[in-house]
Amino acid sequence: MGIALITGASEGIGKELAYLFAKDGHDLVLVARNVDQLNRVATEIEERYQRTIHIITQDLSQPDAPRQIRNTCVSLGLQIDYLVNNAGFGLYGPFAEQPLEDLMQMINLNIKALTALTHYFLPDLLASKSGGILNVGSMASFVPGPLMAVYYASKAYTLSFTEALAHELKESGVKVTALCPGPVKTRFAMRAKMHQSRLTEKNALDAFTVAKAGYEGLLSGKPVVVPGAVFRSLLFGTRFLPRNWIASSVMRIQQDRTPLR
Ligand SMILES: NC(=O)c1ccc[n+]([C@@H]2O[C@H](COP(=O)([O-])OP(=O)(O)OC[C@H]3O[C@@H](n4cnc5c(N)ncnc54)[C@H](OP(=O)(O)O)[C@@H]3O)[C@@H](O)[C@H]2O)c1
Repeated sequence: MGIALITGASEGIGKELAYLFAKDGHDLVLVARNVDQLNRVATEIEERYQRTIHIITQDLSQPDAPRQIRNTCVSLGLQIDYLVNNAGFGLYGPFAEQPLEDLMQMINLNIKALTALTHYFLPDLLASKSGGILNVGSMASFVPGPLMAVYYASKAYTLSFTEALAHELKESGVKVTALCPGPVKTRFAMRAKMHQSRLTEKNALDAFTVAKAGYEGLLSGKPVVVPGAVFRSLLFGTRFLPRNWIASSVMRIQQDRTPLR
């Protein structure tokens, strides 16, 4: 069945994706920073599905990390069949008040690492005329996001890049999908310090539901997957609204936790 390399596999959506690939018979390369958590996930999956799991501990916000991951795979003789660029983080607050270093790390992880890993592993996928790439975007990919400006912009990049790549690779046998969920019940919101945003709880999906939608979308060759009917209809609505109005609405929703009426 081949090997799936999944970034951000120590918890949340990435961990659920790891289970889904393993259940279908794939061996895994799991990437994240927290080695203990990665080991826990690997042990659980090995016991449940008897797959071979490799762990690579890397901070993908470091510029050289994608190259080191590629080199590790080459030295272990691992040919990657599926690449899942899932690791990512957000940061809540006014742009002017956010530390530049944190914003640059977000760009390194959400944009640069995703691009570099895709570039490193694509040649093998093209040569095999099979497999695929799953890039995790967000509902944020579709709209401007005041109070999380850089995060939303980074996810807009993910969607645009992934859709373009899906077109370039249409006849190649390699599948390319952008998974664009709305709020998901993981530690993402807590890590992003979204204490004041209304987006954290309302209608959030669980990580398994989101991972499954992305996994099945990838296998069936969908270029874009938005899990959940509520979120698909919200997104459909944005097509008919001015961008300026959308930006004000996102700002209002992000701004305070007064219950929505
Ligand atoms: N949760 C949501 O509401 C939501 C909504 C839309 C889109 N998304 C997207 O979904 C993806 C997964 O998020 P999640 O909700 O599953 O979040 P999560 O529970 O916080 O998991 C994030 C994963 O990424 C890894 N990671 C974070 N920074 C890393 C770095 N510098 N280098 C390597 N690995 C790193 C984390 O592991 P370590 O800490 O061990 O490194 C963890 O495994 C992200 O791209 C996020 O933008 C999330």
